[in-house]
Amino acid sequence: MHKLLYNLSPETAHNLAIWALHNGLAPDYRESDDPILASEIFGLKFTNPIGMAAGFDKNARAINGLAKLGFGFVEAGSVTPRQQAGNPKPRIFRLTEDEAIINRLGFNNAGIEEFLKNYAASTAKLKTKPILGINIGANKDSENFYDDYLILIERATPLADYITVNISSPNTPGLRDLQKKEAIAKLLKDVLEIRNAQKRKPPLLVKIAPDLTDEEVFAITDIAQELKLDGIIATNTTIKRPHLTNISANETGGLSGKPLRDTATEIIRKIYSHSNGAVKIIGVGGVASGEDAFEKIAAGASLVQIYTSLIYKGPRVVRDIKHELAAILKQRGFKNLQSAIGTAGK
Ligand SMILES: Cc1cc2nc3c(=O)[nH]c(=O)nc-3n(C[C@H](O)[C@H](O)[C@H](O)COP(=O)(O)O)c2cc1C
Repeated sequence: MHKLLYNLSPETAHNLAIWALHNGLAPDYRESDDPILASEIFGLKFTNPIGMAAGFDKNARAINGLAKLGFGFVEAGSVTPRQQAGNPKPRIFRLTEDEAIINRLGFNNAGIEEFLKNYAASTAKLKTKPILGINIGANKDSENFYDDYLILIERATPLADYITVNISSPNTPGLRDLQKKEAIAKLLKDVLEIRNAQKRKPPLLVKIAPDLTDEEVFAITDIAQELKLDGIIATNTTIKRPHLTNISANETGGLSGKPLRDTATEIIRKIYSHSNGAVKIIGVGGVASGEDAFEKIAAGASLVQIYTSLIYKGPRVVRDIKHELAAILKQRGFKNLQSAIGTAGK
């Protein structure tokens, strides 16, 4: 199945994969996770720290299937208030030699109402529910991006286990400006206020770009700490083009996969050390093995997400990463996952 998908265009393959996952045609790789991989963070219990990153299941149609692959958590979205088509095709490029992807989808999604219907329908069928995050974004033609987040927080709090405020997609012009100090401080203060006024108060995280300067990373870390935000997801895709060989290297969009790996890890390290471990981090960017996941955890991530390695390695990668990570933790004498967080450089 994975080989077949790989022979199709990236977007056709993606749609077929979502269809298969939605219709129960995906393999069942669930197992009782090694207890060394268990942890509790943001008040949520995870049986393993490997999550599906945002952008794969934008309309919450594949949650059941993704849960069956053995993910410890699944982040659906990015969802915007209104349905939108995204950028013209082609808009996903596989850079096979580089183990990377460039995408400029531009938040193609069915909008929050359809998303919530799908989300409720698929989670109702689940016997054991993985931790489910909802990742929110803004419509491209919105007069005010800011208001979109406020609307979506209110809609997402009744269902989400956690919510991610995504202000780091490179494919919605102007969105990344929300990461500037004053803009992000105001946005996060207001989204937290709205969250705190709801009956359910799921943890709130912000997802940042790998292209920020050190000063910007430190400023966002300080703001997160001051406002008691639950955590930071580091990172989204990069607009930089480090050492690529594939002919699609100069396509516009966000680059993910192996060439992003070390940059994302560095950002994690900076957030962790700047806040002395106080700001919780979900690490994402180029994780394709247990060793890669361990590196992110040792740099300061409490949890790790993957996207691009699932495309290149197929669904078995989730189980492989979990097994390798458990073996690494044991070999290096860690009692549990928690005790490995932020240990690099100590
Ligand atoms: C095709 C594609 C679509 C994506 N869409 C989103 C999205 O809608 N929202 C988001 O927060 N991140 C999105 N991402 C970024 C991923 O969640 C992740 O941060 C990034 O790909 C780095 O991880 P990776 O190297 O394991 O792929 C997308 C990535 C890809 C490859």
